[in-house]
Amino acid sequence: MSDAPIPLVDLSIQFHEIWGDFQSDFAKLCESGGFIGGSTVSEFESQFAQFMQVKHCVGVGNGGDAIELALRAINVSHGDEVLIPANTFIATATAVSRVGAIPIPIDVSETDFLIDVSKIEEQISTRTKAIIPVHLFGQMANMEAITEIAHRHGLSVIEDAAQSHGATRNGLSCGSLGIAAATSFYPGKNLGAFGDGGAVITNDSKLQNQIRKLRNYGGINKYEHDVVGFNSRLDSIQALVLSHKLKHLEHWNKQRSTAAETYRRYLEDTPGVILPEINDGNTHVWHLYVIRIQNRDGILNTLTEQGIGVGIHYPKPFSELPAYSHILKSKNNCQVASQLSKEILSLPIYPGIADQQIRRVCSALKQSLTS
Ligand SMILES: Cc1ncc(COP(=O)(O)O)c(C=O)c1O
Repeated sequence: MSDAPIPLVDLSIQFHEIWGDFQSDFAKLCESGGFIGGSTVSEFESQFAQFMQVKHCVGVGNGGDAIELALRAINVSHGDEVLIPANTFIATATAVSRVGAIPIPIDVSETDFLIDVSKIEEQISTRTKAIIPVHLFGQMANMEAITEIAHRHGLSVIEDAAQSHGATRNGLSCGSLGIAAATSFYPGKNLGAFGDGGAVITNDSKLQNQIRKLRNYGGINKYEHDVVGFNSRLDSIQALVLSHKLKHLEHWNKQRSTAAETYRRYLEDTPGVILPEINDGNTHVWHLYVIRIQNRDGILNTLTEQGIGVGIHYPKPFSELPAYSHILKSKNNCQVASQLSKEILSLPIYPGIADQQIRRVCSALKQSLTS
């Protein structure tokens, strides 16, 4: 078996798949000089809206801005509270902070790492305005329960769909169930750009109009500024990359599923390893393949020494990070997230990972468990 390094994510495979078709369109775009806005961006926006089963998509600068813009558009502001899962990338929390609101951590469920719906209501206060479920690692949170709670308490739901392009629940696409959804096209995402990128998607025409203004200094037409906005545009080179990659996304997501199935075959019944599960009704797009083990740090070091790219998503609940630990009142209500953060390990997964590479990761893992 080859002992070449196995990265956590290998983007070069995707690059080679699109490069042939992409390069002539790229040359045309460069010749046209249309680097900001224009048809390349609007074409991608409609393709992505269609893929996500929604009416509107507004391309923006990155996923964090997408969440912030969605919150601004529904008027979440200073002093409001927004409920978010404790285990997420910090961008979900910082977007809330940037509009002046407070992100309130909700503990996650031990089986799927997603927001624990049974713990949402106890954190709702008179200041709560919204819930942001995060469809973490590639599968959707329990949107039926979340929308029911939100409806009963008059809260808005904004989905964080950064890690779930293509994921569905009972046949419905992620990002199509809240008032709006935010997503990221960070290069390593299932649909990733050649740099930063993001989008807000929604079925609400007024909201999309407001977001279009906010992302472009407060106006849609040049020099007409209705509101105070800022620059968070998706540039046309990134939109072109994303249009080309979108054509491959379903097939790449299938390859991720096959890789996840291969991990299951090699690792099931391995004592001490808890494998990720797919919840009923969900299709999983395996943005990350996250297992649970004891002695996680020791195993992580051993695998790293052997050239195997592993990761931790995430090393601490956001509420325990220095950026937030002094702000939040209830530090101890996320015990599951805290415990999981010590046990989780992300194994290499990406479209094009070979069966033989997965076999090597699994045998190195098994060996390190017994040594
Ligand atoms: C769950 C989640 N939310 C938000 C973001 C922020 O996206 P970006 O890095 O594009 O700002 C990311 C990714 O990086 C993410 O994984």
